[in-house]
Amino acid sequence: MANSMNFLTLLVSFLSLAPYCFCGRTNGGYLYPQFYDHSCPKAQEIVKSVVAKAVAREARMAASLLRLSFHDCFVQGCDASLLLDSSGTINSEKRSNPNRNSARGFEVLDEIKSALEKECPHTVSCADILALAARDSTVLTGGPSWEVPLGRRDSRGASLSGSNNNIPAPNNTFQTILTKFKRQGLDIVDLVALSGSHTIGNSRCTSFRQRLYNQSGNGIADFTLDQSYASKLRTNCPRSGGDQNLFFLDFVSPTKFDNNYFKNLLSSKGLLNSDQVLLTKNGVSAQLVKKYAENNELFFEQFAKSMVKMGNISPLTGSRGEIRKNCRKINS
Ligand code: HEM
Ligand SMILES: *[C@@H]1O[C@H](CO)[C@@H](O)[C@H](O)[C@H]1NC(C)=O
Ligand SMILES: *[C@@H]1O[C@H](CO)[C@@H](O)[C@H](O)[C@H]1NC(C)=O
Repeated sequence: MANSMNFLTLLVSFLSLAPYCFCGRTNGGYLYPQFYDHSCPKAQEIVKSVVAKAVAREARMAASLLRLSFHDCFVQGCDASLLLDSSGTINSEKRSNPNRNSARGFEVLDEIKSALEKECPHTVSCADILALAARDSTVLTGGPSWEVPLGRRDSRGASLSGSNNNIPAPNNTFQTILTKFKRQGLDIVDLVALSGSHTIGNSRCTSFRQRLYNQSGNGIADFTLDQSYASKLRTNCPRSGGDQNLFFLDFVSPTKFDNNYFKNLLSSKGLLNSDQVLLTKNGVSAQLVKKYAENNELFFEQFAKSMVKMGNISPLTGSRGEIRKNCRKINS
């Protein structure tokens, strides 16, 4: 009797605490938003001000920084492995297929890091800077805000093969993309909500050309792509050449974080094949696309939740990893 009472008390207190816990479940440590409140109280303010300056200089930078957090977290967890340059034992993830000629924004992270090293040396990790910069970029472009759990540490290695294998490609099938998300502990709801990031930013011609000319190896364009939108795209994305030409992922409001991305999918104007398949290849996913197209608030709410979830992928905590002095290099 006493035992079961104790158990009940424990259960009740656990259940009542659970909703307030932002903790990322990690190996031995956990993340929480107040991590730097004493060690570097100005950390969040400094990150925000450098990101704001960079986005004022170039609106696209918000998109580029948001994307970096995704490409980091899908490879050995959110550990800033993506930020390491090649040298010694490091084979940089910047060389991978998803990143080469397309990942950008590293100079902004350098600028944040050096401001933080001045304010509180050897305290704020590059991995946390990335997570904060992704949130600030979302807010600055009109998207939702969220509290960022903090306390990640930086890796002492990178994985080029992980970057090639774990990050979905724009011509992957819906199933392959979902499988790659599930491998990270993310589900179909996270997949659809986080794909909403493509409401801002650009893509190169080379990332979607296949849809314009030879979608299934049959010499014709993807029939799930609006045909007049497709002809417009072809004028600046020729059959060969122009690989690096840039296109808005959301042609309606390319620098505003909103739910036009989902509305575009409903009118067959998703730019990437990986965008359009969310509507055409899976019933559950299609329902989510419709819900987010109808209800911006619902999209924002889920996006914030899914970003926290993505940010919790296998962080290094406690004494694992290190706090890099320079995001591009491991400490010697
Ligand atoms: C679902 C699978 C996804 C695929 C296949 C995918 C693929 C791509 C591709 C091919 C580009 C254009 C790259 C280029 O040509 O330079 C791109 C851009 C972008 N992606 Fe994704 N992505 C996915 C999910 C995500 C997620 C989860 C996020 C963020 C949470 C994200 C954020 C972005 C942003 C913001 C851009 C624009 C970057 C810029 O303008 O610099 N993507 N993505
Ligand atoms: C996907 O794109 C890559 C790179 O352009 C290409 O090598 C590959 O053949 C494509 N895969 C499919 C299934 O079309
Ligand atoms: C389309 O792709 C297929 C298979 O990849 C190839 O055999 C064919 O020559 C291509 N057709 C055109 C018109 O590019």
